[in-house]
Amino acid sequence: MKLDEVQQAAQEQFARQSHRYAQGHILENIEDVRAAIEPLDLPSGSRVLDVATGAGHTGLYLAGLGHDVILADIALPMLERAREAAARRGLKVQARQHAAEQFPYADAGFDLVTCRVAAHHFSSPEEFIRETARVLKTGGYFVLIDGSVEDDQAEAEAWIHAVEKHRDPSHQRFLTPRGWSRLCEAGGLSVLRAMLVPFKQPDLNWYFETAGTSTENRGKVQELIANAPDAARERFRLAEEDGRIVWWWQRLTLVARKRSD
Ligand SMILES: C[S@@+](CC[C@H](N)C(=O)[O-])C[C@H]1O[C@@H](n2cnc3c(N)ncnc32)[C@H](O)[C@@H]1O
Repeated sequence: MKLDEVQQAAQEQFARQSHRYAQGHILENIEDVRAAIEPLDLPSGSRVLDVATGAGHTGLYLAGLGHDVILADIALPMLERAREAAARRGLKVQARQHAAEQFPYADAGFDLVTCRVAAHHFSSPEEFIRETARVLKTGGYFVLIDGSVEDDQAEAEAWIHAVEKHRDPSHQRFLTPRGWSRLCEAGGLSVLRAMLVPFKQPDLNWYFETAGTSTENRGKVQELIANAPDAARERFRLAEEDGRIVWWWQRLTLVARKRSD
């Protein structure tokens, strides 16, 4: 697997931090996934690819519904966490190591491709969407959940980008709902819905610990928070609660379907 610099940075970051993403991580709560998946009414035994599966929270939820799931990630230690979790829950899944920008699968083999809280690390969202559309059957679904920012909010977007980049330098970029929708439509996927849902960041220190942020970069994030422009302050509802800094992320849920053209 030949990786570019961005992919390598993500692989190293998540290999180092994999222990943080398993049991007890906020991503264990898959209510956002459930809300996106239930209306699709997929028949049991559907073929599913969970891209950038991390510790497997999304893919294992889908395996628990009786689907035939492949968990894929660029970082092997993450796949190990996912395998351990599958064994604990008595779920049968396949785990495959590969990048989100190039899949080792034949065309039109999957009923559903999912990707949750990971795409902001990808070196090429365009290639990820092209690959997703290629491996989906006609009528197959794509469910993307990721951090995002409302369209046309350049100042707030630049602020959250700087915060994320300092917290975890393997962060690449959050795309807006319109940005993702355009990529999907250009790649052969019809967008059924794209909705931002606010999601509370529980605590700045937890956020640093999860990413293993350096002391120097913690200081830079704190400065960015102290000097946040009003647009960011309002958009992300920056506040202090019991001496802790909290804010609300904008999380995008996008559901799309492979077109027949
Ligand atoms: C926050 S975790 C994913 C969480 C998981 N999807 C869930 O629902 O709990 C982000 C994952 O993205 C993976 N990742 C980042 N860049 C990637 C890429 N280019 N290709 C594949 N995986 C990637 C990382 O290795 C990491 O495991």
